[in-house]
Amino acid sequence: MPHTTTLSSGCWEKAPTLIIFMGLSLLISIFIAFPPFVSATESFELTFPLGLDEDSVIIPKDNPLTKEKVELGKLLFFDKRLSQNETIACASCHMPSLAFTDGQPVSTGIHRQQGGRSAPTAINRIFSLQQFWDGRAATLEEQSVGPFVSPVEHGFLNHDELVNKINMIAGYRTMFQKVFGTEITINHVGKAIASFQRTLLSGNSPYDRFDYGGEESALTPAAQRGMKLFLGKARCTRCHSGFSFSDEKFHNLGIDWDTDHIDLGRYAVTKNPEQIGAFKTPTLREISRTAPYMHDGRFATLKAIVEFYDQGGIKNPHQDSLIIPLNLTDQEKEDLVRFLESLSGEGWQMTPPTQFPR
Ligand code: HEC
Ligand code: HEC
Repeated sequence: MPHTTTLSSGCWEKAPTLIIFMGLSLLISIFIAFPPFVSATESFELTFPLGLDEDSVIIPKDNPLTKEKVELGKLLFFDKRLSQNETIACASCHMPSLAFTDGQPVSTGIHRQQGGRSAPTAINRIFSLQQFWDGRAATLEEQSVGPFVSPVEHGFLNHDELVNKINMIAGYRTMFQKVFGTEITINHVGKAIASFQRTLLSGNSPYDRFDYGGEESALTPAAQRGMKLFLGKARCTRCHSGFSFSDEKFHNLGIDWDTDHIDLGRYAVTKNPEQIGAFKTPTLREISRTAPYMHDGRFATLKAIVEFYDQGGIKNPHQDSLIIPLNLTDQEKEDLVRFLESLSGEGWQMTPPTQFPR
């Protein structure tokens, strides 16, 4: 019978499609129930606020930014368990609320001990090679593991002690395995923390909106006058140059030379006598949020900084010849401060993690 034949032949024709369909649904349900080992290389897309030069980023080839790595680095940055007595995290001295500084002239680390230098901001580190006031860390990876073995910071005797401590936390073992495909090593700790730090950006400040965005009203007339002084009469861009406001070089302004404890700065790293008392030109982005200022934290206000430069710094045999008295009027000093205040922007604000791996 044609009808039956059609029916039966139709059934046989549809059977393979049905089997394929059922097979596929089964595969999809398995995939949903047990997601396969997700590749740890989901890349992290940085969003650059206005004013920052994307082409100037420094990301080593062997440490690409990935979402999971940045997330791991963030946890390590905020986790107080990663100190000898579980009281200090990177974030203790680099607090998000103070644009990643600590508001102290010099930092207080483990056992309330004080170091000899002020904590600089950790923002826009992605644009720098040399890290620390004296540039002693040549990469951000190297910088990122230094504080753990400082007796006045995280207080571990050596990096093995730190790695052992992280290893005791099962949640971290899983995360390192996922991100790096191996057990925890100090290199991986450095890579993860450096990656997190590379995501801390600052741009789109009123200055950026004025200068790069062409938004005339973004800067007050006083700040605009201050900008002209910054570029001209006040000579600030001789060193605080480019979009990052740093020439990435080392200069002796004379900080310390009015005291009896002189920090030799870059000289201690290079032993080059021309660098006695020289320190890295710091970025000026977020500067109104990162007081007190200079490597010894001596100045509480931007006004005091401008006065210092106006007088030509502190004379000493090694002072940079770029530092000379400026003869600024009171109005000009005010205007310069207004300009410095216009360098606060966005790209670094965040909520610290509240839960850590167990
Ligand atoms: C006890 C306070 C303290 C702790 C804890 C601490 N830091 Fe710092 N940090 C400082 C001080 C002080 C400096 C400046 C030291 C120097 O330049 O010699 C600094 C410098 C830096 C710099 C260099 C910035 C620049 O412009 O060169 C970065 C980046 C940084 N710290 C990140 C970290 C990370 C990451 C951790 C955790 C592994 C950490 N810090 C832990 C106080 C601290
Ligand atoms: C010769 C190079 C040079 C010139 C010119 C210069 N600076 Fe600096 N600036 C530096 C260096 C180096 C430091 C850090 C010095 C230290 O701590 O010993 C610094 C520090 C600062 C700081 C403190 C930053 C912080 O995070 O603590 C501010 C603010 C600042 N300069 C603003 C200015 C202004 C405004 C001008 C122009 C009036 C100016 N600078 C001119 C090199 C320079």
